[in-house]
Amino acid sequence: MQHPPATPDPSDHERLLIVDFGSQVTQLIARRLRELSVYCEIHPFQKVDAAFLRAFAPKAVILSGGPASVPDAGSPRPPAEVFGLGVPVLGICYGQQVMQHMLGGEVRRGEGTAEFGRAYVERSRPLPLTDGWDDREQVWMSHGDHVAALAPGFEVFGTSPGAPYAITADTDRGFYAVQFHPEVHHTPKGRTLYENFVKAAGFARDWTMGAYREQAIEAIRAQVGDAKVICALSGGVDSSVAAALIHEAVGDQLTCVFVDHGLLRKDEGKEVVAMFRDHMNLQVIHAREEDRFLGELEGVSDPETKRKIIGRLFIDVFQEQADRIEGAKFLAQGTLYPDVIESVSFSGGPSVTIKSHHNVGGLPEKMGLTLVEPLRELFKDEVRALGRELGLPAHFIGRHPFPGPGLAIRCPGEITREKLDILREADAVFIDQIRRHGLYDDIWQAFAAILPVRTVGVMGDGRTYDWACAIRAVTSVDGMTADVYPFSHEFLLETSTRMINEVRGINRVTYDITSKPPGTIEWE
Ligand code: XMP
Repeated sequence: MQHPPATPDPSDHERLLIVDFGSQVTQLIARRLRELSVYCEIHPFQKVDAAFLRAFAPKAVILSGGPASVPDAGSPRPPAEVFGLGVPVLGICYGQQVMQHMLGGEVRRGEGTAEFGRAYVERSRPLPLTDGWDDREQVWMSHGDHVAALAPGFEVFGTSPGAPYAITADTDRGFYAVQFHPEVHHTPKGRTLYENFVKAAGFARDWTMGAYREQAIEAIRAQVGDAKVICALSGGVDSSVAAALIHEAVGDQLTCVFVDHGLLRKDEGKEVVAMFRDHMNLQVIHAREEDRFLGELEGVSDPETKRKIIGRLFIDVFQEQADRIEGAKFLAQGTLYPDVIESVSFSGGPSVTIKSHHNVGGLPEKMGLTLVEPLRELFKDEVRALGRELGLPAHFIGRHPFPGPGLAIRCPGEITREKLDILREADAVFIDQIRRHGLYDDIWQAFAAILPVRTVGVMGDGRTYDWACAIRAVTSVDGMTADVYPFSHEFLLETSTRMINEVRGINRVTYDITSKPPGTIEWE
C-alpha cells in the first residue's frame, strides 16, 4: 500500500517542533498551539537527531514532559543541537529538567518536593512569557524530581512551594523552562503562556482552516490526477469532511458509498444522502442492505459476533459497490492526526499506532487502491472548523459520535426489526429533549438503548407488558474515559414521561449512571 501525501506540504508553514518524551498530555500541547494558528508536529525523542532538526527547520521547539527521571542513567535527551538552532526553546516538566541538566544545571530526585495536581506559582518578576498572568496563578504540577541548581544564564521568574524554579528563563538565548504543565486546563492561564511563547518566537500564526483548505485541494489534485476516488461515507464528521474536501478538489471523480445496514437512527440514512446528494451535489450510492445485515444478525446476541458480522458484511457490500465503479484507483479515508502520531515507547524504538477505519480496514490492499487521507494533519477540532469552511451545516458538524455497528450495540441481546423501530423512536425523543433543553453541545454522547427485558406496567385501565429502555448521556474528551452527564431530576422525569407517552412498545425508562471506567459508553 502506498501513502503518498494528500495533505498540503506543511513546510509551506512556519513550524514548531514538539519533542515528545512520553507525557500523557503531549497531544494537548499540539492542540493548544493549533488553536493559536501555529502549525506544529509531535515527534518522539528517539527520532529527533541533528539531521532531523536540519530537515524540519523549526521556528521554535518545545520539549515535552515525560515519565523518565533525568538523574537515571540512559534517561532520554534531545540532541544538543536543539540548543544551537538559534530559535526559542520551551521545556515543560521533564523537558525543563532535561534542558537545565544539559545546559549545566542540576536536577535532583525527591527530597520531599514532589507536587502532583493543583499548585500555585508566585511570579517573582515580570517575564514576557507570563505577560497577562497575575502575581499568583494556579498551575498543574506532576513531578517527583526538581531542578536544584540553574544552568548558567538562567534566572528565576516564578516559584511554587515544591518548585523553587517553577518558571526560569535565559531571555538572551530565548530559552524558557517551566516545571508545571501549561497545556492542561487546570492551568487556566496556560494558553496565555503559549501565546506569549509563539509571539516571542515571531510566528505569523497563519495556520488557519481557510488556508489549509486551499492547499489541501491543490495536494489532492496533484495526488489523484484524473483518476477516480471512492469514499465510504458513514455520515460521521470525519468521512463527511473528507468527502466534501475531495469533492471540492476533483468533483465527480469522487463517488461516495453510503452503506445503509439498517442499524441507523431515525431518518439518518435519508438525511445523510439528501445532504450530500441533493444539497452538495456529490455522487452518492445509497446501498440499502438492511435485509442482508438483519438477516445475518438474526438470533445473534453475542456483542463481538455482532460486530464481526457487521464488519465483514460492510466490507463485502463496499467492495461490491466499488467494483462497479470502473477505474477507481484511490480510496478516501478520514484518518486524523491523533491516529498517526508516533507514540514514545521506552521498550523499543518509536512505535506507530495507525488506527485503521473499523469499516474499511484491509480494503486498500485487497482492492489495489491507494489511500487519500486529506485530514492526516488535523485534530478533530480542526476537522470541524474545516467542515464549517466547506459549508457543512453546524448541526451536522457538531453531531455526537455514532459507532460503526450502529444500533446493534444499543440493542443488547437479539436484534429484531420491532426492537430497532422502537429504539429509533425512543432515541429520537430523548435527543429531542436534550436539544429542546439546550444541552446537546454540553454532552459528548447521548442515546437510548433498548433492554432485552419486558416489564409490566399500567397505562389507563390496562396492564402493559412492554420493553424497558435505558437512557445514557456522558461527557468525555476523547471517549477513553467518561462521566455521567448530571441531568436534573425534572429533566429526567419529563423525558421519561415523554418517551413512554410518545413511543409505543416501551413502558419503563431507566437512567444509566455508570461512568467509564468501570462501564463502557455503549452497552455492548
Ligand atoms: P465504548 O463503548 O468502548 O465506546 O466506551 C467508546 C467510543 O467508541 C464508540 N464505539 C465504536 N465505534 N465501532 C465504532 O466505530 C465500534 O465497534 C464501537 N464501539 C464503541 C462509542 O460510540 C464511543 O464513542
